[in-house]
Amino acid sequence: MNSSEDRQRVYIFDTTLRDGEQSPGCSMTVPEKLRMAHKLAELGVDIMEAGFPIASEGDFEAVQAISRELPWVRVAALSRATRLDVERAAGALSPARHPRIHTFIATSDIHLKYKLKKSRQQVLDEAVAAVELARRFVDDVEFSAEDATRTDLDYLLEVCKAVVAAGAQTVNLPDTVGYSTPDEYAEQIGFIARELGPEVIVSVHCHNDLGLATANSLAAVAAGARQVECTINGIGERAGNAALEEVVMTMRVRNDRLPYTTRINTEHLFPASQLLTGIISFGPQPNKALVGANAFAHEAGIHQDGYLKEKSTYEVIDPVSVGIPEGRLVLGKHSGRHALRVKCEHLGYTLSKPELDAVYKGFLEIADRKKGVTDQEIGALVRTLKMGEAVQAGERRSDAAIASD
Ligand code: KIV
Ligand code: ZN
Repeated sequence: MNSSEDRQRVYIFDTTLRDGEQSPGCSMTVPEKLRMAHKLAELGVDIMEAGFPIASEGDFEAVQAISRELPWVRVAALSRATRLDVERAAGALSPARHPRIHTFIATSDIHLKYKLKKSRQQVLDEAVAAVELARRFVDDVEFSAEDATRTDLDYLLEVCKAVVAAGAQTVNLPDTVGYSTPDEYAEQIGFIARELGPEVIVSVHCHNDLGLATANSLAAVAAGARQVECTINGIGERAGNAALEEVVMTMRVRNDRLPYTTRINTEHLFPASQLLTGIISFGPQPNKALVGANAFAHEAGIHQDGYLKEKSTYEVIDPVSVGIPEGRLVLGKHSGRHALRVKCEHLGYTLSKPELDAVYKGFLEIADRKKGVTDQEIGALVRTLKMGEAVQAGERRSDAAIASD
């Protein structure tokens, strides 16, 4: 990395098809993964983690199929730090033009003692051996120190330096259990990034157990990380991973504070979220940032009035920039006449002041009874009013005709 532009470039490593897919309700078939992979490619992710080939036949096939069908994409396959895993990952990636083997082992004392039952030296040796083996198959190797945020810092640095010497160009320091805080993570990432120097890409991978995955990822970027691992809609183990759309859009909308760039075509964010929702068994919650159904919906009357006068009063992100055609007004009992008139205009009705008053009266009656008034209900109110007016006008005309007879 040389120019200042390059130094500000953040690589987006999408793991929707691996960490995302391995969580409950999110499993995908190979054809579904392929459909999603095409969308992720359109979105412009830099690296696509397509699966964990040793975990299942389906994962192996998905990595292979994506490598074959999207040869221009950098495809990653996950493997534990064992010979069998690395070989399986390499096998699945064999059709890829830009393969990456992503190998990992836990480094925290908790994981060493209870899960791996291995010493620090053993783990370090296995990490190095896995990276060396992976480098025999591919040029691009990433190493992850699982549970990095609960790992002793000196030992973590020792492992990082050893895997870099063994040939890893990317070192990922996951907050596997979503335990870190932005200031703590920034300190850790900043320290390791400075020690490893600018030739090594320090990557972050945050889980959302405390709702801090996006904040932690961004704090880490500001501290020197240049790869962020994330998923569409934030799906992933337990409370999920950092949401790709949040990480990318925060860097874009708040580029004054976070002057970093990605190659994401942001207008594909919403379509990607929608496609994923159609494939897995749940969508983002309605109030999910950027892609939830209510993310750009203004209901309170004061908000709607301000928004209609000037969008920037209540909207800091242009919905079009994430692929949503326009901000949606949700009409309910808090809405005022201004919003109702605009909604009617969107529906193709121009109302006079007395007409608007009449429709507003009917609208409030519905809004008092139920949550939210639909476009269909508003359309019906207007049509009923217009029909009543037409009947009255007809009656007046026939009365006038009778009078003139
Ligand atoms: O959360 C985690 O630590 C992981 C690694 C395998 C990267 O998903
Ligand atoms: Zn993870």
